[in-house]
Amino acid sequence: MTANAALRDYLLSRRSVGIGFLAEPGPNAEELETLLTIGLRVPDHGKLAPWRLIVIEGDARAEAGERLAAIAALRHPEYDAAALDVERRRFLPAPLTIGVLSTARHHPKIPQFEQLLSAGNVAFNLLNGAFALGYAASWTSRWYAFDPEAAEMLGARYGERFVGFVAVGTPRAAIEDRPRPVIGDHVSRLTFS
Ligand SMILES: Cc1cc2nc3c(=O)[nH]c(=O)nc-3n(C[C@H](O)[C@H](O)[C@H](O)COP(=O)(O)O)c2cc1C
Repeated sequence: MTANAALRDYLLSRRSVGIGFLAEPGPNAEELETLLTIGLRVPDHGKLAPWRLIVIEGDARAEAGERLAAIAALRHPEYDAAALDVERRRFLPAPLTIGVLSTARHHPKIPQFEQLLSAGNVAFNLLNGAFALGYAASWTSRWYAFDPEAAEMLGARYGERFVGFVAVGTPRAAIEDRPRPVIGDHVSRLTFS
């Protein structure tokens, strides 16, 4: 293998762009297909494909927001108009959001833990794929990944759970990086005395 300097430099500097900073334009149909292809090209023990993706774009964004706001109003009667408006705009202004579902099931050889990790890889590949195509992206879960009614409204079937939502768009502003972990704080060598 030859070294891929562009990929190395990307990985050394990659960072998310928050949903509030993602605007039009988003990927066109061809780019979306490429992005989804990248997303599904992940390590997957046993080739179970233990994930499913939900594409949220166009008018479905506002409609999903309306329905989220309705569920949020039931959960939180104390929410005022501004709080409900936050829910209404969960999938706006980002032009595209891809929900990533883990479909992990019991398997005699492949632990569900590994299947779940594979779904996490799908989300991260989508994140990186968005940047590879010239867009920016962010991975969030939010309350609606864990609320069964909201998750079902967003496409989850029985037994499935969202590992998150990858919002994709064009960044409206340059985003400052955050402090990054120091290797020495998180890495040790296996030694035997
Ligand atoms: C599984 C998962 C769920 C997340 N959910 C949220 C969330 O609900 N809200 C949020 O503000 N950030 C959430 N984050 C963090 C965002 O992705 C955040 O933008 C990220 O930590 C930025 O890191 P990066 O610049 O290295 O990509 C989540 C991250 C992961 C891995």
